[in-house]
Amino acid sequence: MNRVLLLGRSGQIGGAIERALRDAVDLTALSRAELDITDPVAVSACLKELQPQLLINAAAWTAVDKAEQDSRECDRVNAIAPGLLAREAASLGAALLHFSTDYVFDGSGDRAWTEVDEARPLNAYGRAKLSGEQAIRTLHPAHLIMRTSWIYDVNGSNFLRTMLRLIAEREELRVVADQYGAPTSADAVASAVAAVLAKAGGALWPYFLSSGGLVHCACRGVTTWHGFAQAIFREAKERRLPITARNIIPIATKDYPLPARRPANSRLSLEKMETFYGIQMPNWQDALKKALDRSQQGPPMAGMQQARSA
Ligand SMILES: NC(=O)c1ccc[n+]([C@@H]2O[C@H](COP(=O)([O-])OP(=O)(O)OC[C@H]3O[C@@H](n4cnc5c(N)ncnc54)[C@H](OP(=O)(O)O)[C@@H]3O)[C@@H](O)[C@H]2O)c1
Repeated sequence: MNRVLLLGRSGQIGGAIERALRDAVDLTALSRAELDITDPVAVSACLKELQPQLLINAAAWTAVDKAEQDSRECDRVNAIAPGLLAREAASLGAALLHFSTDYVFDGSGDRAWTEVDEARPLNAYGRAKLSGEQAIRTLHPAHLIMRTSWIYDVNGSNFLRTMLRLIAEREELRVVADQYGAPTSADAVASAVAAVLAKAGGALWPYFLSSGGLVHCACRGVTTWHGFAQAIFREAKERRLPITARNIIPIATKDYPLPARRPANSRLSLEKMETFYGIQMPNWQDALKKALDRSQQGPPMAGMQQARSA
């Protein structure tokens, strides 16, 4: 079994990867409390002790708006730490899998961004994530960077959970309808990671060296945040979850000002994922249903308690 070290286990993608890989690999999964990726001494000691064949970094600063005021801290986690991880992993012969974001793009046009398109981030978070990608490319020959978009899970702080709460609390919701992208469940990303590892088999370093690089990894299809909110509303209704909302009103980004600018076009091309890696990503509506099914089978998530006990 491959020895795999996963960082960021308490995050959305980290948690999903832990669930997806725990029976397939010899997995050590650490949270920020167990390893702070910005601490060079701790990172070096941890990697030397565990000697992983693959390091998966799902840890990141994801507070996009807060990054505008605190870009130094965001840089430490998203730009500098990936370089540190890359240097240490490469020196020990561990392949590296890392995550990046649609927010490296400026959102112009309306076609799906490919891996060779030029990245021009609009905000501090996107700039830091792009620097992190560049550090990995420079320092680690056997890496794979997966850029994903609009992540949600049944745990954590995300659009799905916020919408389920607001649908239960408010009569009217106003949601941005001029940003386009693909809502992507953390489980869909974790399944893609598991599929890549299955392809690599026991030859992680050679596989990442020859077939690694950069790949876009999101659910299929496209919608807006407003379209996603409507789909969540329909699912909530079908599942008889608590609903107060009567109206979900589409609004423009300019009518919902936030500190960080967001790209209007976050579509990610899946062509490389499908043709080169042979991995089919699920449609975003199917992934949403699956995530809600999982949450209804497991411990109740916020906004679902009432329906479950009814
Ligand atoms: N969320 C999205 O919509 C989205 C979209 C595109 C790409 N991505 C990328 O996907 C990856 C995973 O995102 P996610 O949504 O799963 O993030 P998340 O839920 O916010 O989880 C990030 C994890 O990183 C941990 N972390 C933060 N600083 C750390 C540090 N200094 N040392 C160790 N761990 C640290 C956090 O720990 P604490 O909980 O203790 O703070 C948290 O568990 C990231 O690379 C992100 O940039 C996310």
